[in-house]
Amino acid sequence: MKTFSILFTASLFGNAALATRLYAASYAGLVTSLDFSNSTDLSTLSQTTECGSSPSWLMLDSPNGVLYCLDEGIDAPNGTITSLKSHPDGTLTKLGRLKTPAGPVMSAMYSAPGISGRKFLAVAHYSGSSVTTYSVDPVLGLFEHEQTFTYQMASPGPVASRQEAPHPHGIVVDPTGRFALVPDLGADIVRVFRVNPSTGLLEPIEPLVDLDPDTACFGPPRGSNSTSSDVYFYLVQELSNELSGFRVTYSSNGISFRKVYEGSTYGEESSPAGSKAAEIAISPENNHIVVSNRLDSTFGPKKDSFALFLCADPSGKKAEKVSFLGLYPAYGSSPRHFSIAPTQAMVAVALEGSQSVVVARWDKHSGAPGTVLAEKKLDGEIPSVVWDL
Ligand SMILES: *[C@@H]1O[C@H](CO)[C@@H](O)[C@H](O)[C@H]1NC(C)=O
Ligand SMILES: *[C@@H]1O[C@H](CO)[C@@H](O)[C@H](O)[C@H]1NC(C)=O
Ligand SMILES: *[C@@H]1O[C@H](CO)[C@@H](O)[C@H](O)[C@H]1NC(C)=O
Repeated sequence: MKTFSILFTASLFGNAALATRLYAASYAGLVTSLDFSNSTDLSTLSQTTECGSSPSWLMLDSPNGVLYCLDEGIDAPNGTITSLKSHPDGTLTKLGRLKTPAGPVMSAMYSAPGISGRKFLAVAHYSGSSVTTYSVDPVLGLFEHEQTFTYQMASPGPVASRQEAPHPHGIVVDPTGRFALVPDLGADIVRVFRVNPSTGLLEPIEPLVDLDPDTACFGPPRGSNSTSSDVYFYLVQELSNELSGFRVTYSSNGISFRKVYEGSTYGEESSPAGSKAAEIAISPENNHIVVSNRLDSTFGPKKDSFALFLCADPSGKKAEKVSFLGLYPAYGSSPRHFSIAPTQAMVAVALEGSQSVVVARWDKHSGAPGTVLAEKKLDGEIPSVVWDL
């Protein structure tokens, strides 16, 4: 298999004078604000325990300065959602909180054209086998429960130890904002919902079947265009380390998917024992798919990888053909979530196993993760990190 060592860029471009901040969630029960204005050093601005015992996911509503935090509530009967106000000095204070079904692990926000001034939040609950929705006042960061969908299975799936029940593992909204997709690792399907344009409620429609999904993304992210003929849906499958690509077609009221690609996150090689793919994103250049591979030690003990796939032809036009490009260092152990900051050309990686956050250059030339700029050790496993730029 092809592996790449970290590339050194000849010149570092000028450091932005703007505040550059990150928020990291930790299973030690902490949400940490980190300052990166220095560009070489990540320093702690503040920490809060307001997101419960096991913060698993962070989502920033940047224009309103509100950070939404999910508490997976590991070993607890319920999880929580907490909204936190982010202050200029980096402190976070609680705005709202609701108890949820167990195991919330990912959220997405969307709007309903018929409802102005409010937004909607949908959450995937892994251990609680549920999807929930909330109506949000985005300015105040306050929210109310709207819907709970709870799923059951008649019998376990093929990987009985992980598929004993439905496990909604992620949630993404399509580029038109009209549909929400929930990969369900336990039930081997992607649940598909239509966003009711006048109520904001989710309406289940025909799912995508025969998959073992984990998390997913749409590409290219081109903003709202309900008639776009150039939308693809990419799904990473944790149990098989497979990436699947689908061509998306819209009708007046529906969405359909045609599979155009399936391949391993290790290319032609077999997956290292115990490895499991985690997060997926489209590169800022819109031509690569980036997947984090956990626990593969590709670059040495406790040094895991990113898999990179080409998803556009050299002219930059989106092509149906996806191809595996190789593996790049993920800077440590068990890269679960990562966030690319396109304008800053940087990637932040939540290293669950290393219990740290790494910021590295995003190498625009190769369209891949590049040199490490800083690493910050934190308490506990780090499932999620987001930029506040
Ligand atoms: C950035 O932080 C490092 C480590 O704390 C320090 O040595 C360096 O002087 C700082 N640079 C600037 C420009 O503040
Ligand atoms: C909390 O968990 C219990 C047990 O699973 C469940 O019945 C209840 O609906 C949950 N509460 C909320 C607010 O989801
Ligand atoms: C939406 O997509 C259509 C068809 O591809 C294209 O003609 C149109 O310019 C797009 N509109 C926007 C706002 O991107």
